[in-house]
Amino acid sequence: MSSAFDFSLEPLKNFLALYDEAVKARVPDANAMVLSTVALDNRPSSRVVLYKQITRGELTFFTNYNGRKSLEIANNPNVSLNFFWPSLEQQIRIEGRAEKILRSESEAYFKTRPRLSQIGAWASEQSQKIKSFEYLEDQVKFFEKKFSGQDVPCPENWGGFRIVATNYEFWFARQGRLHERYVYQKNGSAWERSLLSP
Ligand SMILES: Cc1cc2nc3c(=O)[nH]c(=O)nc-3n(C[C@H](O)[C@H](O)[C@H](O)COP(=O)(O)O)c2cc1C
Repeated sequence: MSSAFDFSLEPLKNFLALYDEAVKARVPDANAMVLSTVALDNRPSSRVVLYKQITRGELTFFTNYNGRKSLEIANNPNVSLNFFWPSLEQQIRIEGRAEKILRSESEAYFKTRPRLSQIGAWASEQSQKIKSFEYLEDQVKFFEKKFSGQDVPCPENWGGFRIVATNYEFWFARQGRLHERYVYQKNGSAWERSLLSP
């Protein structure tokens, strides 16, 4: 078990303590997490997104609301997240329901992004087929011109999702594959705690 972990605490507190430790240990891309969604035909798909903030007590990532993952979430909000920090031999699994954060919350975060990322949010119709990479570069030029001399507004179709967590698992590697697995499961407003066999 990591020294930052205390099973008697709420899972979010443990996540934040371990995340802080990972950042201090310079784990590359410590905020990268695999997000899995499920499509209408029940097929799962996964991709990496970045954990950016806690919004009203839940982990939050930002994306295009018209992209594939967002459309899948609109149909089925059940998602899973997975963090793997190889150098610390730790894995954190989170399951829950994704929900859009408030427009004002997305706008506040959008303001903190570098200008090129803000322009990119306008230029990219995420998950759509495009004819060439040049087309994307032309879109960037178009929006740079359109917003020249002014702040780039947050596109209507861009924002955050918070994952309202129902399950957490904290996994710590141990010798002989006798790994430690600490599980929290939400029951009403309480967290039930269990240990799992590796
Ligand atoms: C390290 C890394 C970080 C990423 N962060 C994000 C992110 O925060 N938001 C996002 O929409 N896509 C992010 N992506 C791109 C996604 O993995 C994915 O390609 C994109 O969101 C389109 O997914 P979709 O078509 O399933 O919607 C990231 C990719 C990598 C490799």
